[in-house]
Amino acid sequence: MDPHILILGAPGAGKGTQSDRIVSEFGVEHVTTGDALRANKEMDISHLDLEYDTPGEYMDQGELVPDAVVNEIVEKALSEADGYVLDGYPRNLEQAETLSEMTDLDAVLYLDVDEDVLVDRLTGRRVCEECGATYHVDFNPPEEEGVCDKCGGELYQREDDTEETARERIRVYEENTAPVVEFYDDEGRLVRIDGEQTPDEVWVDVKGAIESNA
Ligand code: AP5
Repeated sequence: MDPHILILGAPGAGKGTQSDRIVSEFGVEHVTTGDALRANKEMDISHLDLEYDTPGEYMDQGELVPDAVVNEIVEKALSEADGYVLDGYPRNLEQAETLSEMTDLDAVLYLDVDEDVLVDRLTGRRVCEECGATYHVDFNPPEEEGVCDKCGGELYQREDDTEETARERIRVYEENTAPVVEFYDDEGRLVRIDGEQTPDEVWVDVKGAIESNA
């Protein structure tokens, strides 16, 4: 069976960047709640009688989308995947408990990065509107400004990558998701990786951790 990998880390820690490499190397699916929710930002969730009527209204303010919406998306995606790298979930302890009822994990990786580095990475990130490839204006710029090297698509800045929203996302992360890191650490299954190294150096550690745990 292909490996079941969970990748944890703050917004901008490099989860998406490393997940792309995991997908290429291990042939697993990338299950990412952020992308799934961005594709469904306008979905009508008014029947759930929550604070807002669409996921996008939570996301644009840096808040978490309610568990009822996210759990359903993840359960469906995991049931359709053989191996996977799960990125962006669980975001709180309730989601972590729900996840342990849904599936078994082979490796739990945590990318450790300081807050100021996170803000620089998020505000400089650019994403291809065609293929989703990720760049950074300073650390990983495209050959031609604003144009994707891989497919020629136009690059844009995510609406939640402004400094104000990025700081709010990091605050929400500290409040809700840092306890999830402790949850897996207490179970003795967390592999901590220095996420402030270059992407290639981080990858050496990520690949090694998967090969020795999965
Ligand atoms: P989501 O899309 O999951 O965003 P996130 O967790 O905030 O993570 P990011 O995608 O921003 O960061 P990343 O770690 O993938 O960084 P990347 O590799 O791109 O979620 C968005 C929103 O959706 C949430 O705020 C919430 O509202 C909602 N949501 C999602 N899941 C939810 C859930 N489970 N429950 C409730 N709500 C949910 O890297 C960042 C930048 O740094 C890039 O520019 C990259 O080129 C650069 N970079 C990467 N690695 C390095 C390196 N080693 N050195 C230098 N630069 C690097």
